[in-house]
Amino acid sequence: MSGTDQAPPGVDPHVPSPARLYDLYLGGKDNFAADRAAARRLRQDLPELEDAAWANRGFLQRAVRFLATRGVRQFLDIGAGLPTQNNTHQVAGAVQTGTRVVYVDNDPTVLTHARALLQPPDAARPGGTGPRTTVLTGDLREPESILGDVIGRDALDLDEPVALLLVAVTHFIPDEENPWDLVRRLLKALAPGSHLVLSAATRDHQSPRALQAIEEVYSKATANVHLRTRDEIGRFFSGLEMVPPYPGAEAAVTYAGQWGAEDPEAADSDGSRWSYCGVARLP
Ligand SMILES: C[S@@+](CC[C@H](N)C(=O)[O-])C[C@H]1O[C@@H](n2cnc3c(N)ncnc32)[C@H](O)[C@@H]1O
Repeated sequence: MSGTDQAPPGVDPHVPSPARLYDLYLGGKDNFAADRAAARRLRQDLPELEDAAWANRGFLQRAVRFLATRGVRQFLDIGAGLPTQNNTHQVAGAVQTGTRVVYVDNDPTVLTHARALLQPPDAARPGGTGPRTTVLTGDLREPESILGDVIGRDALDLDEPVALLLVAVTHFIPDEENPWDLVRRLLKALAPGSHLVLSAATRDHQSPRALQAIEEVYSKATANVHLRTRDEIGRFFSGLEMVPPYPGAEAAVTYAGQWGAEDPEAADSDGSRWSYCGVARLP
């Protein structure tokens, strides 16, 4: 997207959106001049912007592959973002057949592109074995509405384990809206043996200048960012069984780049430290 005339319905091209900004950090092309200006401003004080986005995206992909390899066939990806390379259904579908993925987002740009690009490959055909994808308009602040839609469309079987993906999305919910309770309400609907896959941006290692730049940019975007501490992010996993992020590591949250990394020491970059993440199992 390069001109205001190409904005999908409901999108103001003059206001940056977290989805388009993140896609821009990942090298995507679905953005407007306002998004590019916002990213340029951020880069002045956060040179590791792209590294941070890739560390987070890599976590999502490694966690999905990890769970698919262990037999998880259903994924509920809320705050899915713009389709990019190796989306959830592609990563899981490369591991096994019969995968079902539901993508949920509240950004109209995401939904327009997701519906155009994430058409079910061959699963829509009778007897098809490719991943079956469903794209839903939904807001993390309304968990029951998302769950109702999933059930109503028979998109996932909630009596069977599901991997709930909340990757880089809870930080768009302020404390006053209690994101911990929103996550708990989603988990309550899932079968034992389901998993939570979550990452969230942290304020723990940011300089005052970086924090100011983030506030300056995202306060003018469609959603503001609420950076949290390690303890606050760890609370999303309360009552769950944490999976050790890599062999020999403590079963706890870790930096995004390190989760499932072949060489966790080498993956411990500045950008990786922007987010804490974890994977945990519902007992
Ligand atoms: C930083 S992107 C993360 C994309 C993907 N999960 C990843 O980590 O690669 C955050 C996404 O969450 C979406 N989002 C933000 N607030 C949301 C909300 N309240 N409900 C649903 N989606 C939301 C944004 O539109 C955006 O697509």
